Amino acid sequence: MNVSAEFVTSATGPGDFPKDWLPEIALVGRSNVGKSSLLNALVRRPVARTSAAPGKTRLVNFYRVKINLQKAFYLVDLPGYGYVRGAKNAGAFGDLVEAYFTRTTVKGVLLLIDARHPGLEVDQIAWNWINEKTVQKIIIATKADKLTRAMRVRHTKELESLYKCPLRLVSIQSGEGLEGLWKLIVKLKNLEEIKTR
Ligand code: GTP
Ligand code: MG
Repeated sequence: MNVSAEFVTSATGPGDFPKDWLPEIALVGRSNVGKSSLLNALVRRPVARTSAAPGKTRLVNFYRVKINLQKAFYLVDLPGYGYVRGAKNAGAFGDLVEAYFTRTTVKGVLLLIDARHPGLEVDQIAWNWINEKTVQKIIIATKADKLTRAMRVRHTKELESLYKCPLRLVSIQSGEGLEGLWKLIVKLKNLEEIKTR
């Protein structure tokens, strides 16, 4: 598979969102869960900035991606929730993310959850909010390399019972799940149905 990706824009408000109506797949999740890292691993280039400290991505960043000779689409790296210095409701999405989700070009959402912490309330709040949108969703459990074998079994079960939608475990360290995730992303952007397993 030949993948190319280029940074297009960092939107500070709805006026900056692209106007070419390409399909978009959004990466959503808690700060530090690994959204920007996953984007880089998928496109095999460090296009997005990552950090060991939470709160790195503050704007809505659009990356135009092409797979082989297919039509281009956007992978969209969103600011994380759950960490806003001094914010009262750190679980909520900011205005910018809320504005982003009114776009009809959003075809799919990857909700990233740290595989070590499947039951966090902030993630369930985010899920409930995204669930009201009619887009297709996939739960991505990140940092799978940090799981023991027992945690893998237990946390997978917990995620499956909390989130009734397709679930995939990934790791940018071991490369686990990345190829399978690409297949799902292609389906999402083409609005094909995703099977749970
Ligand atoms: P914000 O931009 O703050 O919302 O964070 P983010 O979700 O974009 O997280 P980011 O990609 O910056 O990664 C946060 C940290 O997690 C970095 O130190 C990454 O190296 C680390 N990380 C991301 N994915 C993995 C993974 O699969 N395994 C391990 N071990 N570490 C990871
Ligand atoms: Mg980020």
